[in-house]
Amino acid sequence: MKFGLAFWAATIFTSKEINSMPMKVCKAVFPAAGLGTRFLPATKAQPKEMLPIVDKPIIQYGVEEALAAGCDQIEKMLEERKKTDLLKIVHSISDMIHLAYVRQKEALGLGHAVLMARELVGQEAFAVLLADDIIDAQEPCLKQMMRVFEETQCSVVATQIVEGPSISAYGVLDVKPADGRFDGRLFEVNNMVEKPKPEDAPSKLAIIGRYILTPRIFEILASTPHGTGGELQLVYEGRRYDAGDKLGFLKATVELALKRPELGDAFREYLKDLKL
Ligand code: UTP
Repeated sequence: MKFGLAFWAATIFTSKEINSMPMKVCKAVFPAAGLGTRFLPATKAQPKEMLPIVDKPIIQYGVEEALAAGCDQIEKMLEERKKTDLLKIVHSISDMIHLAYVRQKEALGLGHAVLMARELVGQEAFAVLLADDIIDAQEPCLKQMMRVFEETQCSVVATQIVEGPSISAYGVLDVKPADGRFDGRLFEVNNMVEKPKPEDAPSKLAIIGRYILTPRIFEILASTPHGTGGELQLVYEGRRYDAGDKLGFLKATVELALKRPELGDAFREYLKDLKL
């Protein structure tokens, strides 16, 4: 994937979901039951969400983002294997968090993991964060999405522009502009294609790991797992790292370390000295 100077992401909402009572998003779901095969053998010993970027486990970046966006209820999809440590980490981040977790007995996919949260979430709009997508943005990504949700009361999904054949690794959106709202960064989504061949990709807008969903998603997941359509999306700014991938993990480590006041200068000097 090509990373540009400016990163764009987008959000989706379903126009049919507008309710008369405005909904607020307080709950955040962190699916964390994936197998982490790209990080074997490390993920034999611990889940990838526990791998540290600089000095914080990956999951902590996501939980801090959710808190900054106003979610104080965190639900986690864990499977049994060595993931109880994650609970301790999440709890230690803030006393303000109400934490619950459900087990996904088998890693049957992200949609299945989200469906496991149905009872805990209830009839509320909720956020889903895939913690291994670390997004460094002036205004936290989820907070930007919350602004769209507050205005539209529709489901919102984050995406970014991906150039070239790497687009085939993502869900890709077929969109039309939504009246220049949100500085022209809002789009209506007509359809989504999962991992298309580059020549079949309907746009350069790839879905990434941040969603605000209305409870209708549970019916859709339970009956038609591939349902998309009738949605909108908004582009926002930020820098994303795929920390579930080795190269993405290294980029996140280097760039976020460079931004640390206590570490940045010394680390920059060290990098300059490397004969690359
Ligand atoms: P990934 O696509 O990154 O899969 O999952 P993975 O298994 O974690 O990692 P690789 O590809 O084998 O290296 C995206 C997110 O969905 C969660 C993962 O924990 C991750 O946060 N997930 C995935 C579940 O919770 N359950 C699943 O069955 C699958």
